[in-house]
Amino acid sequence: MTVRLLALLWVVGLPGVAGCIHPRADVPYVQTPHEVVAQMLWLAGVGRHDVVYDLGSGDGRLVIAAARDFGARGVGVEIDPRLVAQSVESARRAGVGDRVTFREQDLFQADLSSATVVTLYLTREVNLRLRPKLLADLTAGTRVVSFNFDMGEWEPAAVVRVDVSGRSTPVYLWVVPAR
Ligand SMILES: C[S@@+](CC[C@H](N)C(=O)[O-])C[C@H]1O[C@@H](n2cnc3c(N)ncnc32)[C@H](O)[C@@H]1O
Repeated sequence: MTVRLLALLWVVGLPGVAGCIHPRADVPYVQTPHEVVAQMLWLAGVGRHDVVYDLGSGDGRLVIAAARDFGARGVGVEIDPRLVAQSVESARRAGVGDRVTFREQDLFQADLSSATVVTLYLTREVNLRLRPKLLADLTAGTRVVSFNFDMGEWEPAAVVRVDVSGRSTPVYLWVVPAR
């Protein structure tokens, strides 16, 4: 399943560099380019009062950038322990080790109650599976940003397009509504 998915992602040209697939991962490890990381955090309006969760946090780049460049606190949720260890070390080197946390956990099991911003680079299928949890667990007003993949009929509040290796690629923003 995951091998077929990785092959498909390569075929459709998912932006980033595919690395490895953890046996329990729903999505392969593909990095968000650094310039897109900044645009995602900017689109979400991240500031020093925010707690930014990256679900499937890879090498930790979104969480680390949120802390280092936007003054936020951050939590990365990642199923691959090697990537969690790499993220912890990168955060320490970036001088934000005290502002970020990385959890080795399935993102579908994560406690999101303290998030004010959630960042995603998954797939459309995983976004759709995750959508009910986001709408149930997140406080109204929480911003959700996704690189490249939408949320079906949940209409975004904004879409910006970023250039990734010559391809115009969408970044979506949603704001969790009041129940
Ligand atoms: C496409 S990568 C994105 C990495 C990072 N967020 C970024 O934008 O650079 C998706 C990440 O999600 C992780 N992942 C996949 N399924 C997961 C799950 N069920 N729970 C937690 N992490 C998962 C993968 O190991 C991978 O690191």
